[in-house]
Amino acid sequence: MNLLDGKQTSIAIKERIANEVRGYTAKGLRPPHLAAILVGDDGASQTYVANKEKSSHEVGFTSSVYRYSANTSEEELLKAISFLNEDDDIDGFIVQLPLPKQINEQRVINSISPEKDVDGFTPINIGRMVLGEDAFIPATPMGICSLLEHYNIETEGKHCVVLGRSNIVGTPVANLLSRNRKGANCTVTLCHSRTKNLAEITRQADILVVAIGKPEFVTAEMVKEGAVLVDVGIHRVPDETKKSGYRIIGDVKHSEVDAKCEWATPVPGGVGPLTIVSLLQNTLKSYRRRFGL
Ligand code: GUN
Repeated sequence: MNLLDGKQTSIAIKERIANEVRGYTAKGLRPPHLAAILVGDDGASQTYVANKEKSSHEVGFTSSVYRYSANTSEEELLKAISFLNEDDDIDGFIVQLPLPKQINEQRVINSISPEKDVDGFTPINIGRMVLGEDAFIPATPMGICSLLEHYNIETEGKHCVVLGRSNIVGTPVANLLSRNRKGANCTVTLCHSRTKNLAEITRQADILVVAIGKPEFVTAEMVKEGAVLVDVGIHRVPDETKKSGYRIIGDVKHSEVDAKCEWATPVPGGVGPLTIVSLLQNTLKSYRRRFGL
């Protein structure tokens, strides 16, 4: 098995971003600015936003986080978004999901300006992506494509099976990999919770993308010999042997599946680092547009 190393790939892409940013700031332009809105105190969300800040600084971006308490009203949040939509010093921002129950997530997403929607979650950006127009592509699917591209994985004519149909990962990655362009042109099957004979289908996959949100769901008998495996899952499980008291596992039982694969992403260190890098790339794209670069 060969490693689809997300950490290494993300370092290489971040170096390219940092170089470009240095060029702009040397000319006297301000650096790109990525902001995040974080509501409540969900542990995974805090980690994601902290990683976003760290990566932003690594490439020379300005980063800011707007924190709101868990009992913030939808109205307050919409006001904050409207403020960021109008702020010329901010090139892009994300509203970290999930949001507390009193807030309608789709209404919030719909209020983000499509021109600053670096998560690619607004209907306008999703529509543009599906039509093949210039768009902000959602970070995780974009990261998966970058990873396959970085390792020159042949995708053309391959059967790609995607497990999971979420708006954030499964649905957009199925769309992206089926498009008529370099690094795509796959025949895609999208499987979900109502799919019958799942293992029969996953065993046909040349490329298997797993984003089903269930720890170690994919086992060896579900995977073809020589497959390319992309595991999007991230789960914390208690582990007394670790200083932190937990370890991270994916949606795939790597201890038995990896040996069958030609390529596989580790968890952690696979898709995760690329997700943040995609967010940086989208922010840089917004910055270039705004400054006509
Ligand atoms: N929650 C889990 N993944 C994501 C993501 O990519 N963007 C946002 N905004 N929230 C998330």
